[in-house]
Amino acid sequence: MAGHDKKAGHQPGDGAVRLRSQLWFDNPENPGMTALYLERYLNFGLTRAELQSGKPIIGIAQTGSDLSPCNRHHLDLAKRVREGITAAGGIAFEFPVHPIQETGKRPTAALDRNLAYLGLVEILYGYPLDGVVLTTGCDKTTPACIMAAATVNIPAIVLSGGPMLNGWWKGERTGSGTVVWKAREQHASGEIDYDTFMDLVASSAPSVGHCNTMGTASTMNGLAEALGMSLPGCAAIPAPYRERGQMAYETGRRIVDMVWEDLKPSDILTRAAFENAIRVNSAIGGSTNAPIHLNAIARHVGVPLTVDDWQTVGHKIPLLVNLQPAGDYLGEEFHRAGGIPAVVAELIAKGKIHEAALTVNGRTMGENCAGRFSWDREVIRAYDTPLKEDAGFIVLRGNLFDNAVMKTSVISPEFRARFLSNPDDPNAFEGRAVVFEGPEDYHHRIDDPALGIDAHTLLFIRGTGPIGYPGGAEVVNMQPPAALLKQGVHALPCIGDGRQSGTSGSPSILNASPEAAAGGGLALLKTGDRVRVDLEQGTADILISDAELAQRRADLAAHGGFPIPRSQTPWQEIQRGMVEQFDAGMVLKPAVKYQRVAQT
Ligand code: FES
Ligand code: MG
Repeated sequence: MAGHDKKAGHQPGDGAVRLRSQLWFDNPENPGMTALYLERYLNFGLTRAELQSGKPIIGIAQTGSDLSPCNRHHLDLAKRVREGITAAGGIAFEFPVHPIQETGKRPTAALDRNLAYLGLVEILYGYPLDGVVLTTGCDKTTPACIMAAATVNIPAIVLSGGPMLNGWWKGERTGSGTVVWKAREQHASGEIDYDTFMDLVASSAPSVGHCNTMGTASTMNGLAEALGMSLPGCAAIPAPYRERGQMAYETGRRIVDMVWEDLKPSDILTRAAFENAIRVNSAIGGSTNAPIHLNAIARHVGVPLTVDDWQTVGHKIPLLVNLQPAGDYLGEEFHRAGGIPAVVAELIAKGKIHEAALTVNGRTMGENCAGRFSWDREVIRAYDTPLKEDAGFIVLRGNLFDNAVMKTSVISPEFRARFLSNPDDPNAFEGRAVVFEGPEDYHHRIDDPALGIDAHTLLFIRGTGPIGYPGGAEVVNMQPPAALLKQGVHALPCIGDGRQSGTSGSPSILNASPEAAAGGGLALLKTGDRVRVDLEQGTADILISDAELAQRRADLAAHGGFPIPRSQTPWQEIQRGMVEQFDAGMVLKPAVKYQRVAQT
């Protein structure tokens, strides 16, 4: 086996691996502290013999709760994890992680990714844990957990919670989030009423689990597997399926051996692993949130990765997975068709995967996935007959921002006909800008005829980045005014310094860095300006002179700079003071210098 054998041939307790937990629980050199640490962990029934037996203490980082329904199934799965840990000779300690529910948290769940990260770092650093099972699911729970494991660098393994079962409405699949974008158009144009709107949207959530579309949750769990952080096949198993409980058990078993093998996040999260994940992201039609979160994980483990790497490494990879929002199907079909290993097998066959990248099972990506082709070519296409070519992101830059990301593969024929049909200039569009100051302003004014929005207008939104709207708002995919929807205009170009939901199929230009609130050129844009976007050259510019731009910048500074709203909570203020921009992963500046900090 070409895999991992750092501590092969070990015996539990043979001294080859010194367990962190023994510093707390069995340290004859400091009986006073040892007794203090130990005695309180006996009070619910553990015995001194267990805690001093030299068995690894394994944390189960529990992200599920009533407040985080996407991850709530982990409350049940943790029992199987615990049984796996026990069967392999470990002792399980389950503890809560700060909840992050994408659909439930105001002002945005993204604000809490770094808060959950900080909390988990303190737990993994400061308590007697030798390894940890990271229970992941809803969008930001996955990066928050992996970022923390990367910082502390103790053996860690991801257990995804799995997507919900497929949603259905009148014989058609209804996918998480994606159905909302459709339903709100139908509601805005008067096609359906409030009650039907509610029932239609709720039909997409038929069971426990996270979003069943290829939104940010399925993306990030898929990329965790592509990074090598979960057992092969883990990400796609729907939450209620029997295989999910079986995967929980195997994950619990495996983490104990990882402790004995001393297999750490830094052994797995290499540059090669990130390049693999970027390519898998293109092939699955992954979320535009992925660059933010993957770049954040890379920063915390100390691997150089830039937003430009996403275009260089990932743009040319075709779309292979036929899941909503880019395609037709949902999580159940993806799992049955073979999930992430089948996608990786396609990429391996074309030399697009670093096969030697190590994974949590001690084997390489190549050993795990080579030849595991899908039998269902409707759902997972062969590399040579993809759904779309060039499914990765492109990176745009200009006087509006230093960089922003666009998923060109979701440009619709309707959009192309209106904006990209000039035979002399087929990859560029130009138009009049209408600027909104955040989502509230957009909702307030979008239907105002005075704005003069027509089928060729470019919609902008700003004040929605990590500082402007703490955590960054998922709002860049803006729906055209109702009057245009009724005329059959379903999409205008949307550009902004916020994010958008991974369940949206809109070809927005987003994650702009720096944001308006951090001195980006978006702050200088005025409604009525003409803007040119060139997808071939990778540029996005306000068509004004440099002198005019400098004058506007001076005027803005003279008026106190771009307005930043008052923080509503202490954490909003703390994060605003130390957060990096989207292209740098929206990490906390002081946090990235702490790496591999586990006490041994
Ligand atoms: Fe939680 Fe989509 S809202 S996974
Ligand atoms: Mg989301």
